[in-house]
Amino acid sequence: MLFAGGASVGITAALGAAAPVRAAARRAPLSDVFRLGVASGEPTPDGVVLWTRLAMDPVAPDGLGGMPARPVPVEWQLARDENFKRVVRRGTETARREEAHSVHVELDRLDPGTEYFYRFRVGTDISPVGRTLTTPAAGTASRDLKLAVASCADWQVGWFTAYRRMAEDHPDVVAFLGDYYYEYGDYKYPVRDQAGGECLDLAGYRLRQAQHKSDPDLQAAHAAAPWVVVWDDHDIENAWAGDVPEQPDPPFLPRRAAAFQAYYENMPLRRNQRPDGWAMSLYRTIRWGAVANLHLLDTRQYRDLYACTGKSGTVGPDCAERLDPNRTILGGKQEDWLFDGLRTSEATWDVIGQQVFMMEMDWVNGEQKGYSNEGWDGYVGSRNRLTAAIEESGRNAVVLTGDVHSHWAGELKRDHQDPGSKSVAVELVTTSITSAGNGLDEYPNTQVLLDENPHVKFFNGRRGYVNATFTQKEMKVDFRSLAVVTQPHYPAYTSGSFVVEPGIPALNQV
Ligand SMILES: [Fe+2]
Repeated sequence: MLFAGGASVGITAALGAAAPVRAAARRAPLSDVFRLGVASGEPTPDGVVLWTRLAMDPVAPDGLGGMPARPVPVEWQLARDENFKRVVRRGTETARREEAHSVHVELDRLDPGTEYFYRFRVGTDISPVGRTLTTPAAGTASRDLKLAVASCADWQVGWFTAYRRMAEDHPDVVAFLGDYYYEYGDYKYPVRDQAGGECLDLAGYRLRQAQHKSDPDLQAAHAAAPWVVVWDDHDIENAWAGDVPEQPDPPFLPRRAAAFQAYYENMPLRRNQRPDGWAMSLYRTIRWGAVANLHLLDTRQYRDLYACTGKSGTVGPDCAERLDPNRTILGGKQEDWLFDGLRTSEATWDVIGQQVFMMEMDWVNGEQKGYSNEGWDGYVGSRNRLTAAIEESGRNAVVLTGDVHSHWAGELKRDHQDPGSKSVAVELVTTSITSAGNGLDEYPNTQVLLDENPHVKFFNGRRGYVNATFTQKEMKVDFRSLAVVTQPHYPAYTSGSFVVEPGIPALNQV
C-alpha cells in the first residue's frame, strides 16, 4: 500500500488526474499543527470565543499553512485550572480549508467574572494553553478592569517584545486598535524578513496573518487574555476610506473582501461577525459589569473621503471642508448606535476604542496651523456630534486611539473651534508595537507641539502599549515604553502615568 500510494501520486499528478492526489492528501500525516498559537476574544458575562488555526507551514505561499485540503476535527477543552484537572467543558469543532483551517469555538453558559484555561488537540498534537475570562455579571461594581491597549505592529521594522511585556503585565482584556500587520511589500532594509509580497488577495492576507501569528511574543499576548480587535487602514490597505482605495489596482472591493475574510479567520471573533463579501460589521460594545462599557468603533468602513485634498495624511494649509457639519467618520448608522449606547449606559466609564486622533492637533510648529485630515480633525462635524452626545449623556468618557505611532494623552473639548470650550473626555493614544522603529522619548519639536496644543498633556515617542485600570473611584493609565525594538528582549518602562476621576475629564499626572 505504501509503495502503491507513493507511486500513484507522481504518475497521476503528471497525467493531470486529480482524484488520486486528493486521496493521498487525505492520508498525509498531520504534525505540529499548532504553530499559530491560540487566542480568545469577545468576552461576555457567560461566554467567550476560543480560537486557533492549524498550520504546519505558516509561510506557505498559498496562505493555507501547508495543510492538506481535508477538514480536520479539532478537540478543545476548557478548565478552571491551567493543569486541566477541573475540565468544565469539552467538544470538537471542524477546521475547514474554506476558512484556512481556523477554528472559532463560541462558548456560552459559563460563570461570570471567572478565569478559565483552554487548549486544543489534533491527534497527538496538543496546543499551548491559553488563559481567558468572562466579564463580571451586569451590575457588578467590585471587579476592576485592567485593560491593555495596543496598535500598529509592523513585522519588518522590529521585534514584537512589547506584546511579551504586555502579557507579563497580566491584563484582563487586550483592546487592539488596528494595524495588526502592514499590507506592504518588502522594505529595503528590514529588521525581520516577511514572507510574501504586498497583500493583494486572499492568499496574501492569509499568509501575512499566519506569519504574524507564528511570532512567539504575539502568541504570548494572545494566550494571556481575551482580545477585542478592530482594524485600521493597513489591515486592508493604507489610507482606505469607505469604498475608496489609495491605489486603484487591484480593484478595491474584492481586495477588501479578501482582507475581511482573512481578518475573520485569524481573529477570535464571533460567527455573526463573519464578512458578507466586502461588508463586515465590527462595531460593538464589551461590557465590564457596572465599571465600564467598551465601545469599539470602525472609523474606516463608513467614512467620507478625506477633506481638502481627497488624499489622506495631509497636514498643511487649513480648509473649510473639514469643518463641514455634514461630514462623517462613522456613518449615520454607527453614530446612532454609539449615541444610543452612551444614552443608555449605566457604567462608571464609557471607553471608546477607535483608530485615529480625536482631539484637535495642530501638527505644525509656529504661527501656521496644520491639521491631519485622516483623524477627526478632518471630520469636525462628527466630532462635535460625539462630544455633544457625551455631554448630554453625562458619561465619563475615555477615548482610546492608535495609528500615530507615539504615546499621547490629552483632553477632548466640547468644541475645539471655541477657545473657551470645556473638556468632555480624556483621550489616551497608544504608541505602536514596532511601527516607526525605536523612536525617542522626546523629539526636538515635542515641547513646541505641547505648548501650541495646551489640551495635550503628554507625549512619548518610543514603542510600547498602554495599561489602563478602571475602577469605581478612578481610571489610572500607565504608558509603557521600550527603548529598543530593533533587537529582541528589551524591558518595558513606564514613561508616564495619569489618574482621572469620574465627573472630572482632566488628566492628573502621578
Ligand atoms: Fe500604523
